[in-house]
Amino acid sequence: MKIIMLGAPGAGKGTRAAMIADYFNIPHISTGDIFRANIKNGTQLGMEAKGFMDQGLLVPDELTVKILLDRVAADDCREGYILDGFPRTIPQAEVLDQELVKMGDKVDYAIDVDVPDDVIIDRMSGRRACLKCGATFHIAHVPPKQEGICDKCGAELIQRADDAPETVKNRLTVYHEQTQPLIDFYQGKGILKQVSGTGAVKDALQDMLAVLI
Ligand code: AP5
Ligand code: MG
Repeated sequence: MKIIMLGAPGAGKGTRAAMIADYFNIPHISTGDIFRANIKNGTQLGMEAKGFMDQGLLVPDELTVKILLDRVAADDCREGYILDGFPRTIPQAEVLDQELVKMGDKVDYAIDVDVPDDVIIDRMSGRRACLKCGATFHIAHVPPKQEGICDKCGAELIQRADDAPETVKNRLTVYHEQTQPLIDFYQGKGILKQVSGTGAVKDALQDMLAVLI
């Protein structure tokens, strides 16, 4: 099963991708998490990506496509994976398709999580993220059991640098210009599934399974 999560920044792609990954026992691959891990570890890739991310801009396709294709070539991806935050541009989607075709393969579903922009601004201000395992919380909607500590791995939770309100506005603009066209792209391929992202987190897995199965 190969699934893509589409949706604006803060729509709940990461929260939902983690549920699908657990359910189908496939890896959850977030390009944003890969970049943040590289920034934390001070790698060359991290240094290059940081400048774009801090402004709310997309990291150039040349950098992003390579890390994604390397990741999906790993052994644990043989039975499938869920991509969270990739593709984000039409050229990224086209490269992914071409690479899969070479392997006689294809994307099975693209799930679009729909959330109005005003709800997103509120969600970002309360988000807390774990840089170690990628888990996501919200101080009001999805609180960790112990404040500031990740339930899953015990690491310290942080507020992401790109969650500052001005940066969130830039990310939304970039989303509408460069990423939203992917909805029509996957609709045209007949694999688009749409879910509302404003329901309760506890119902999110069932909502997605209802459109997939
Ligand atoms: P990335 O890390 O992918 O960020 P994003 O797409 O902006 O999305 P977020 O991670 O902010 O939100 P999300 O949809 O995962 O929502 P979440 O589940 O956390 O990318 C960051 C940057 O990296 C980009 O800006 C770009 O620079 C670069 N990048 C990454 N991939 C790239 C690519 N392919 N090409 C180029 N550049 C790339 O939920 C948000 C909050 O809401 C959380 O607090 C959560 O607990 C809460 N929440 C979730 N669902 C609900 C609900 N139903 N009700 C209430 N609260 C909820
Ligand atoms: Mg995310």
